[in-house]
Amino acid sequence: MSSADNISGTVAVVIDVLRATTTIVHALAAGALRVIPCRETEEAFVLRENLREVSPDQPVLLGGERGGVLIDEFDLGNSPEDYTHERVIGKTLIFTTTNGTRALFRLLDADAIYFSCFNNVSAVVKCLLKFSKIIILCAGTDRLYTGEDMLLAGMLTERLTRLSEKPYLLNTYAVAAKEQWDTSFPVAKRIGQERIHPENLAQILRQSRGGKNLMALGLGKDILAASQIDLFDWVPRTAGTGPLEIVRNERPTDVPLPLA
Ligand code: MLT
Repeated sequence: MSSADNISGTVAVVIDVLRATTTIVHALAAGALRVIPCRETEEAFVLRENLREVSPDQPVLLGGERGGVLIDEFDLGNSPEDYTHERVIGKTLIFTTTNGTRALFRLLDADAIYFSCFNNVSAVVKCLLKFSKIIILCAGTDRLYTGEDMLLAGMLTERLTRLSEKPYLLNTYAVAAKEQWDTSFPVAKRIGQERIHPENLAQILRQSRGGKNLMALGLGKDILAASQIDLFDWVPRTAGTGPLEIVRNERPTDVPLPLA
């Protein structure tokens, strides 16, 4: 893990368990054509206008949150399970969140950017094992460390170091994250049950900074949704040489996007 400096020649993984990366995975799983991330809400409206001009037949949704809640005039918030097949199938999602989508823009010099949450952790590990230089960026909450992202970073690090044929050199953040993961479920791991029950993981996530924020907003169901390990077996990644878009890695879109 890194402060996201010096990243050319590396692949990057963004983590925002609660909830941006979890929601991106759910949206694409439910059939969204692509996710176009942006930093500001005003930018989302402009992108939608540009897209409507260029591709009037392409349905577009605006999704995301500020302060954890639905943004005025947006179609969807940031609750993963609101991104149902009925709502998103075949649509382009323009998406902005407080921390997750902004973190992503720090990684644009990376060779590829992948998106991880507990819902797709094994697929992410499988995909990363091909690479020797990896940055894991935890989005955090309100520019502060948050335990749920660190926990997933630790799980990824533990798996990568255990499964890779070549040893990875870990920085101190990666060592700390791995230690956090190693000590979180000692009994389950000792008896060989690495697959953690969602409720057990949710119990830990509720204690984190991001988890407490969601509990205060009455959004505990999103924590449980985020706690289902390996619900999906694929990884979203950035694609396209023009404006940034996120797609399922096995199904890159080839629709041009002249949005600038
Ligand atoms: C973020 O990007 O800051 C989070 O996804 C926050 C949230 O979901 O409320």
